[in-house]
Amino acid sequence: MKIIITKDYETMSDEAFRVMADVVKQNPAAVLGLATGTTPLGLYARMAKDHRENGTSYRNVHTVNLDEYAGLGAESDQSYVWFMRENLFRHLDLPLGNTNLPNGKAEDLLAECARYNALLSEMQQDIQLLGIGSNGHIAFNEPGTPFGAETHVVELAESTIRDNARLFAREEDVPRRALSMGLKNIMHAKKILILANGANKAKAVCGLVKGPVTEQLPASVLQLHPDCVLICDEAAASLL
Ligand code: GLP
Repeated sequence: MKIIITKDYETMSDEAFRVMADVVKQNPAAVLGLATGTTPLGLYARMAKDHRENGTSYRNVHTVNLDEYAGLGAESDQSYVWFMRENLFRHLDLPLGNTNLPNGKAEDLLAECARYNALLSEMQQDIQLLGIGSNGHIAFNEPGTPFGAETHVVELAESTIRDNARLFAREEDVPRRALSMGLKNIMHAKKILILANGANKAKAVCGLVKGPVTEQLPASVLQLHPDCVLICDEAAASLL
């Protein structure tokens, strides 16, 4: 694993942008695996700025997102599809038809997982962007998720519901279930870029880098990926 430690969130985002921009430059028809959360917002702002100022085109790019809350769709400002449109897609020349997320509103969630797996098997990510949960989850693969899992329906951990409650009006509004790519789908990516900032991620980052490879800390599986880059700020790296 290549590790880059930066002074703060802004420099972490600068470095992340460099990695992402390089992938798109090398292949203007790249498949980008994307993530939600507050961590990638700085990177997304830089991609938007670069498109606006330098004309980098995403016309032929396709995207696949990691996850979505069960029961939420584009009309909800808490859904991940809304988040992606608002924070990235509408700022680029990326056709919405090229973007993919699991459909949280699907009537049959298991069939939706099967659809997403089939899609992913035909669209290998040139790069998969990840954040990390304070309990070491990636996407919504909570501790205990088998490394061989593909897209599945997840019962969210209590700690994840608490962490994510800050983004909802009330804790009881946080959906209890989600659809998530599995660790196998994530590991299938050609390159992985994982970002972390802030002291509340330090323990998870330590487990990711130095801990045993264990399903109890899902991100530790990334130690087995041949091309994984971790970019984190000093606070998140404080236990390394
Ligand atoms: C959610 C998402 C993850 C994300 C994590 C961390 O649980 N499913 O993909 O990495 O939150 O979020 P944040 O970046 O806001 O700390």
